[in-house]
Amino acid sequence: MWTRSPSLGFRSFGIKIESLERGKLTEFLSQEKTEQMWKLCTRRLSRMPVQYVIEEWDFRDLTLKMRPPVFIPRPETEELVELVLTDLEGKSGKDVGDDAQLTCLEVGCGSGAISLSLLKSLPQLKAIAVDQSQDAIALTRQNAIRLGLQGRLQVYHIDVMKDAEAMLSLCNPVSALVSNPPYLFSEDMMTLHPEIYRFEDHAALDGGEDGLKVIKQILTLAPQILSNHGRVYLEVDPRHPLLIQQWLKANMVEMHYVKTQQDISGRPRFCILQKGKSNKDHKPDLD
Ligand SMILES: C[S@@+](CC[C@H](N)C(=O)[O-])C[C@H]1O[C@@H](n2cnc3c(N)ncnc32)[C@H](O)[C@@H]1O
Repeated sequence: MWTRSPSLGFRSFGIKIESLERGKLTEFLSQEKTEQMWKLCTRRLSRMPVQYVIEEWDFRDLTLKMRPPVFIPRPETEELVELVLTDLEGKSGKDVGDDAQLTCLEVGCGSGAISLSLLKSLPQLKAIAVDQSQDAIALTRQNAIRLGLQGRLQVYHIDVMKDAEAMLSLCNPVSALVSNPPYLFSEDMMTLHPEIYRFEDHAALDGGEDGLKVIKQILTLAPQILSNHGRVYLEVDPRHPLLIQQWLKANMVEMHYVKTQQDISGRPRFCILQKGKSNKDHKPDLD
């Protein structure tokens, strides 16, 4: 999630200088428009990310409302959604494990980007999304309603570190557990661009000393949440896939590591794990 600064994108504008009518380029702005423009410029000059300035951003085929301090979805996360979709599309209509319904749990939903994208692409999917931030929960609910997807999404204010029991009680085993958790190593927080450090929720970024604080908790709870052969899909720091495999080997028998997937820049970015023992012949892919 760190390859591009959230201040650099211009996708949501959809406007190029060549596409403007010639007359518009020489037209004077009204007093009202000038004031509006200054307001936006002042916000951006304070280093507010452009996504917060214009109050919306595109994620895959969705336009989502954005509001500080809720985490701004990054382009890599679109690839995480593709991974989950490829697996779930293969499952739909076939055996979906113990649960008859295709269901997904997202830990740390932020603006709702991942869950809402999955729901938009898979009409038979139902999702549960949790987050420790009340701002994130409110924004996910707002985005779900704007997109007409609220009927298949349940959103809860839950901190997985503190309220594990509450989360477990929500999950009639689910087919997939997906998360783009806070995964920065704490010492890297000081190297962030001002746009990120000043405006985004630090709890969305800081994953503790080794960046694995929330990830370990998700994996510990996963066997109780997933249906048989259900999978966990994680977006992580490129240093994490090996650390996660080592931790899993030392701490868990109910889950096995399936593979590491690289992001578009070739960095090991996504981890897929599965409930159940590994097929003896299968060696995890140590990217
Ligand atoms: C990196 S952001 C990802 C947001 C969104 N899924 C996305 O990809 O745009 C991580 C999210 O996890 C949430 N989070 C952090 N710690 C958590 C915890 N202990 N329990 C639940 N959610 C947590 C944060 O509030 C934040 O919204």
